[in-house]
Amino acid sequence: MASQAEKPKVYKGLEGIYVTETRLSYIDGLHSKLYYVGYPIEALAKNSTYEEVAFLLYFLRLPRKDELDLFKALMAEARELPEDVLNVVKKMASLKAHPMDIVRTAVSYLAAYDPEVGVNTPESNLRKSLRILSKAPSIIAAMYRFSRNLDYIPPRKDLSHVENFLYMLHGKRPTEFETKVMDVIFILHAEHGMNASAFASLVTISTLSDIYSAVVSGIATLKGPLHGGAAEAAYHQFKEIGSPDKVEEWVQKALASKRRVMGMGHRVYKSYDPRAKFMRELDGEIAKIYGGEPKLLYEIAIKLEEVALKEFAEKGRMDIQPNIDYYTPIAYTALGIPPEYFTTIFTASRIVGWTAKAMEYLKDPRLIRPLDLYVGELDKEYVPIDKRG
Ligand SMILES: CC(C)(COP(=O)(O)OP(=O)(O)OC[C@H]1O[C@@H](n2cnc3c(N)ncnc32)[C@H](O)[C@@H]1OP(=O)(O)O)[C@@H](O)C(=O)NCCC(=O)NCCS
Repeated sequence: MASQAEKPKVYKGLEGIYVTETRLSYIDGLHSKLYYVGYPIEALAKNSTYEEVAFLLYFLRLPRKDELDLFKALMAEARELPEDVLNVVKKMASLKAHPMDIVRTAVSYLAAYDPEVGVNTPESNLRKSLRILSKAPSIIAAMYRFSRNLDYIPPRKDLSHVENFLYMLHGKRPTEFETKVMDVIFILHAEHGMNASAFASLVTISTLSDIYSAVVSGIATLKGPLHGGAAEAAYHQFKEIGSPDKVEEWVQKALASKRRVMGMGHRVYKSYDPRAKFMRELDGEIAKIYGGEPKLLYEIAIKLEEVALKEFAEKGRMDIQPNIDYYTPIAYTALGIPPEYFTTIFTASRIVGWTAKAMEYLKDPRLIRPLDLYVGELDKEYVPIDKRG
């Protein structure tokens, strides 16, 4: 054991540690910037589609029209789920399992139907990644329908990725605006540096396990309220506040009792999360178009942001600002998506980030194996069970 003087530094939470090089995304947390493969996130959210962003992350360049058409066709072709997987989803929905547990289990189960599961070549990994990516919305839509005793709606090949997802959820083709909102949500969640779920998934692939296992590790890690679960928590927080005029009182009580404002603060962004900025503007449009609950949530969110940021600034914490999870609940509500499904949609989108990262890492893999610093006693005497006090 190391003496006190030579005690190694423990990097709790691995803060500030680089574990690999990447060309996928870059976060400038001090200046509200996020790039995918060098493209500013705002340009992609405004002009692109999820399929195009997925192509960008897999091939590190934007596609030509014919390439994108082929890529979209391959994704549309892979949307169907095996009957057995649908049955598992149905069974778990009847047990009222958490939606993230259902997605995790279904993705894991899908591996059994993939003849290439154990093949780790780049071509095979890309094919498998596309299959998982394409099927994830079908899993979410299936559990949504089954948990409401509604019939499963099979996917359509003539619709875009997010259009088909909304169609499978609600049984009707979404409007152009709804499709755009969902595309923006999917694009903004697609990839985000070495976050906890990306790291979990990278640890898995670093053992030369398989792409399905890497995605399952990512899903399991994304589930937590400090990561993907924050949007659901932010929604409940807005509901608990109830109206904009209750915000002041709520903030005073919450901060006095050391509660965190959900959807604010970030390990990397010490400025306004650019994704939250984009969503905030889109939510403004949504509030105007939809009125009702989305408008009320939006008004509460805007007021809470104003009051909380003032409080944080008074404490010298100008770095605690809204993150993406703060502003997505408004858009999800407008699209008819219940809060317990928010993280599953984050998952469906982030599969591209996890798989692109896994494939990038496999180009030059190294087993991820950090150390833990033992601080217990050594050479203790083994006492037989009948002699223990
Ligand atoms: C994201 C998060 C986990 C980052 O945590 P972190 O890196 O440990 O945060 P920091 O080191 O910058 O700051 C920690 C301190 O800042 C304060 N703080 C950070 N985020 C806060 C928030 N949202 N509300 C109130 N106080 C907050 C707390 O006082 C905390 O001190 P504590 O440990 O005594 O509670 C944290 O900001 C958080 O819990 N946010 C709410 C959940 C959320 O939105 N998660 C989504 C992330 S994309």
